[in-house]
Amino acid sequence: MALRRFDLEAGGDTFAFKPETEEKIAFWRGKYPAEKQRSAVIPLLWLAQKDNAGWLSEPAMREVADRLEMPYIRVYEVATFYTMFRLQPVGKYHVQLCGTTPCQLRGAEKLKEVCKKEIGDIMYVTDDGRLSWEEVECLGACVNAPMVQINDDYFEDLTPDSLAQILGKLKNGAEPAAGPQVDRVNSAPEGGATTLTEAALFDGSRNAIRTLPNLPQPAEEEAPAPDAQQQTLAAIKRTIIGGAKAAEGAEKKEAAGERPPEITIDPAAHDDLKRIKGIGPKNEDALNELGIFTFKQIAEWTPANVDWVEDFMSFPGRIEREDWIAQAKTLATGGQTEFSKRVDAGDVPSSQDDED
Ligand code: FES
Repeated sequence: MALRRFDLEAGGDTFAFKPETEEKIAFWRGKYPAEKQRSAVIPLLWLAQKDNAGWLSEPAMREVADRLEMPYIRVYEVATFYTMFRLQPVGKYHVQLCGTTPCQLRGAEKLKEVCKKEIGDIMYVTDDGRLSWEEVECLGACVNAPMVQINDDYFEDLTPDSLAQILGKLKNGAEPAAGPQVDRVNSAPEGGATTLTEAALFDGSRNAIRTLPNLPQPAEEEAPAPDAQQQTLAAIKRTIIGGAKAAEGAEKKEAAGERPPEITIDPAAHDDLKRIKGIGPKNEDALNELGIFTFKQIAEWTPANVDWVEDFMSFPGRIEREDWIAQAKTLATGGQTEFSKRVDAGDVPSSQDDED
């Protein structure tokens, strides 16, 4: 890394943004609230550098500080930290050569020799004013090492020959093509892809795969497992032995927790509890026998109510696992769940009254 010092002579005493830059300044400042305007310091320094022939004079830094009401030292700190800001005059095309380990291992030292030969010492500006160069730290394109940045463009996968050609074109007023200088697209392997090459990955045929490990199987998921069916049947038998007797049986069972409040309402006002995933016709019957007819009732169950119902209906943990209460809250407020949409569309056999 070169020592970075201000050039206090070359910058003169004043700096002014170009009139057309004001709109860009307003854009960047507009991204930050009034009390955080100093957050725009980097984009404003960048704009100042562009308006000052590619480098930041000390008056340019002061102008930025004044506009953002920052102490000058705070702006100097930013400008001297980032190598994207140049602190002395540069050529029309300024080369930033990455000398960090990946680039160095891939030949950056030889590229430095090219820069010295074609341009001169670090930060020397050629007599025609077209070229200058410096060494910088990693520019984040290590996969395409070695590389340089010239003004706003990256030139990657360089060799001494390819860099010399690029510099030659810039000297002669031509425009070299930026990007990788070998046969690769962006950061893809040279010569084309070496992995993920199966056509099926890209022609849509992979979408035909319908089973994946651990993928939920909707039809099976909606129907209670055989054991659960037996348990549910037993619960219904306990509850559908006559209203009063069922209630008495429920009390005798001494289920853990607290029985949820029951209500009596017009059947026309009953909700279709089968729109809750996990409640089929049998469970709905059992719940109705307990005086549970609406989503709102289920949505309001306390943990003690959940314990009681699970214990009573002999499916420990199921209400929480199937998230009945969250589903009921959504449905009680007129919302939809993915499952309720399928029930409404008639796509869920276990939620049809004539089955089960
Ligand atoms: S090391 Fe050169 S771009 Fe990262």
